[in-house]
Amino acid sequence: MFHRIESFGAEALHCFSDPALGLRALIAIHDTRLGPAFGGSRFIPYIDEDAAVDDVLKLSLGMTRKNALAGIPFGGGKAVIMRPDKGFKRHDIFRRFGEVIEGLGGQFVTAMDAGSETEDMASIASASVYVSVADPAAHTALGVATGIEAAIARREANATLAGATVAVQGLGHVGSKLCAQLAERGARLIVTDFDRARIDEIVARHDAEAVSPGQIYDVDCDVFAPCALGGVLNDDTVARLRCRIVAGAANNQLAHPAIAEALRARNILYAPDYVINAGGVIFAALSYLGDSEFQILKKIKRIPITLTRVLDLAERKRVTAEEAAEGLAREILEGDAPDDTTPMLAAR
Ligand code: NAI
Repeated sequence: MFHRIESFGAEALHCFSDPALGLRALIAIHDTRLGPAFGGSRFIPYIDEDAAVDDVLKLSLGMTRKNALAGIPFGGGKAVIMRPDKGFKRHDIFRRFGEVIEGLGGQFVTAMDAGSETEDMASIASASVYVSVADPAAHTALGVATGIEAAIARREANATLAGATVAVQGLGHVGSKLCAQLAERGARLIVTDFDRARIDEIVARHDAEAVSPGQIYDVDCDVFAPCALGGVLNDDTVARLRCRIVAGAANNQLAHPAIAEALRARNILYAPDYVINAGGVIFAALSYLGDSEFQILKKIKRIPITLTRVLDLAERKRVTAEEAAEGLAREILEGDAPDDTTPMLAAR
């Protein structure tokens, strides 16, 4: 166990169980150098405990990097609650989980994540002050849309989303709102989801083209936007992609680190997920601190600037965008960030 915690560089891993409620939860505190750990609470089924441990540790590392690059005064952490098969009372599980978070005394602050809803955050809030209740998806989608715009302009001077084709995988909280943002900016959409009703709604609303989940990697498009779960970019799918840019909301899109190089070798620009999906944590963290919508939007507007900075660094250092983003996050965490990143990261 310690070997796994150390391999992800986490500070601590807390495990909680309440058999009477069916609660099995993990909280990873990854890095608190910039402030208390902030990260979502995921509520999905896991094949086994090992899968849950790996997920929470990997996601917590991503939160450390995301929060550092977003310039918010928080470290990185994450929680996963292993969703029981059946026979559980949702409110009771989340309220008990709120007591657990409260017991950590502010070391960890949480928000919505895959599988959890605003009602669940309200259940946590009935037992803890360390939670941001509102749904961050619209702000995540805004950050991703502006990140995609910056990536398009990077590939071709003065190019915009107008007339560009974006393939969106996953039409949940973020994907559906991203489609609205992209359509508003004039993009043509190709969409997929496992849920037929979600596809039908987006097709009707934005005149999108629908494809099956298995076909989305093979469509001709300018941008592939993964907005479902992680690990979708692997050796097989990257070889199939017919796009110039990969930029989406899903956390941990790369199945393994060498995939960043495989994308670069295919001349596909990859916008690191934790750079462009930071709108949600910016919204959740800053609203938790009592900031105004104006301050939150000001911070989200920095996402395309940060992405451009990362892509510049990658070009200059001849590394992948993923490596450049990791390097920049490390410098920020170690207090070694170059002076010219200061305006980008200016705290609130
Ligand atoms: P969600 O659970 O609301 O939506 C995910 C959607 O993807 C569902 O409709 C599901 O049916 C679909 N899906 C799952 N696997 C699929 C596949 N292989 N092919 C096609 N469709 C598939 O989740 P949400 O909140 O929209 O988040 C999406 C991703 O963005 C997750 O990876 C999450 O961690 C990440 N993210 C979400 C943020 C937020 O504000 N909600 C913030 C930052 C990242």
